[in-house]
Amino acid sequence: MTNNNIYFVANWKMFGSVKSVNSLNKVISYSNTMKLKANIIYCPPYTLIKSFVDKTKKSNIKIGAQDCHTQINYGPFTGAISSKMIKDLGGKFVIIGHSETRAENDNKKINLKIKSALKEKLNVILCIGEKLIDKRKNKTKYVLKKQILEGLKNLKNLNKIVIAYEPVWSIGTGIIPSENDLKKNIRFIRNTLKISKKFTKSKILYGGSVNLKNIKNLMRIDNIDGFLIGGASTNEKIFIDIMKKSIN
Ligand code: PGA
Repeated sequence: MTNNNIYFVANWKMFGSVKSVNSLNKVISYSNTMKLKANIIYCPPYTLIKSFVDKTKKSNIKIGAQDCHTQINYGPFTGAISSKMIKDLGGKFVIIGHSETRAENDNKKINLKIKSALKEKLNVILCIGEKLIDKRKNKTKYVLKKQILEGLKNLKNLNKIVIAYEPVWSIGTGIIPSENDLKKNIRFIRNTLKISKKFTKSKILYGGSVNLKNIKNLMRIDNIDGFLIGGASTNEKIFIDIMKKSIN
């Protein structure tokens, strides 16, 4: 992996309290001392976006949301948050299509969400990945291709989209794909994007149980542009150590 411009996306899911903003102190200091250019992006719950934005204002760290509504503006959608609102808070990124939200989101809805985010000039982290049953039935490529083609349908300018390959069976389980499978699937994603003339300079991240033990092995895999990190990113020390190990 070439590690200039590497991505480290912290997906905090439904974790964090008002006090959690203090846990950014060390990460901010670390990011200021980094020699290489890295993209550090925190995606806390909606409730913490504003305080994270304020806290990281003078740093290189960017803040994002974990989902958004299909509608760009405002509307009668109880419990929902639009791209406009995320932008208003100072968010620069939004995760769309995470497997923990896919039960309520088919590819068509994900496509609309991406369009709403792009209209607000947010950067999108589109999550794709097969379930264990797909893997067992040898349907991984079929699922990935469908998620890419339907999720990115009718989108031309995709330079604000980063793809995160997250095998669903790997999320939160401590199990990661074999080096060979990971290489193969990342290559397949890249080729699918190329063939569909989407974009050739696409950044592709890996997500699913990234931790201090496996980061060195994951770094050996070419073609990965960074990581989407859940559990391990909520502990600042572990998150920093993962970044250090990735960059050295
Ligand atoms: P995990 O989560 O690192 O805790 O497996 C990754 C994710 O769901 O994005």
